Amino acid sequence: MPKKIWVNGRLVDPRRPAVSVFDRGFLYGDGVYETIRVYDGKPFQLEPHFQRLARSLRGIGMRVPFGRAVLGDAVASVMAANRLADGVVRLTVTRGEGALGFDPASCRRPTVVLLAVPFASHPAVHYEKGVRAVFVRLRRNAKNALDPSIKSLNNLNNILAKMESMKKGGQEALMLNQEGYLTEGTISNIFFISGGVLKTPSLDCGLLDGVTRSVVLSLAKRRSLAVWEGRCRPRHLFSAEEVFLTSTTLEVMPVTSVVDEQGRLRRIGSGQVGEWSGRLLRDYRRLITKATGKKFKI
Ligand code: PDD
Repeated sequence: MPKKIWVNGRLVDPRRPAVSVFDRGFLYGDGVYETIRVYDGKPFQLEPHFQRLARSLRGIGMRVPFGRAVLGDAVASVMAANRLADGVVRLTVTRGEGALGFDPASCRRPTVVLLAVPFASHPAVHYEKGVRAVFVRLRRNAKNALDPSIKSLNNLNNILAKMESMKKGGQEALMLNQEGYLTEGTISNIFFISGGVLKTPSLDCGLLDGVTRSVVLSLAKRRSLAVWEGRCRPRHLFSAEEVFLTSTTLEVMPVTSVVDEQGRLRRIGSGQVGEWSGRLLRDYRRLITKATGKKFKI
């Protein structure tokens, strides 16, 4: 349990109720969030996270309730109040307290909560040997329903997908869109190397515009690795030389096996972590070191 949490401008005790049971985030998942990594006391890629927060809020008809400087200070103060240098800050904005019912007219003030927790590092073996991803039956939310480009609190679809993948022995689920094209994982974007080209589903397939996804695309270009964004079928993954996932918390996570929709296990490439996956993880971490001073073993 964190020592303090940040709620609408104040650091408070998390054991005391700080958010109303009439809050629409609680009642309806009516809000958005960001997950930010802090390394050695410095947030990484803070600006892109704030920009996406603003886009998500616009997508649900809201505006960022605090200025950029206040939110930047909030990230720093919630980390400091919990005496954390390496951690994860979860920033949640809801439409606030209101009357029961979907009409948001009675909502007077958005609720903003920042939680800071220590970073629970992923097992080293996942980076050394790669993880297993599972194609699940559940489809990603359609772009013309709750658009996946909005990082909303409505995560039930992804939670059910995650549960399905865990039952089938996977660390991450892979979801298709309504047309059967690949979108992303439940908390990550997906990439693969095919014919020496780095490929990833394009944003129009209906997925979150990952902050790490953008960083990795620019790192690949810097290495003169050809990059392609478009529509991908599951079979494109099965024949890929390498597959990896990206997210704020996973960084660059290699995938060495995939369970297809028929439940068959398919090895990716040689079944070992590929060269590009390792190289891009090291490049990504070098960038973190440059931006925050954090040192890594690999
Ligand atoms: N998840 N796709 C989905 C559906 C996500 O929830 C996330 C992030 C990503 C990767 O985005 P980024 O690189 O900006 O972290 C892709 C965060 C980590 C979370 O849910 O806590």
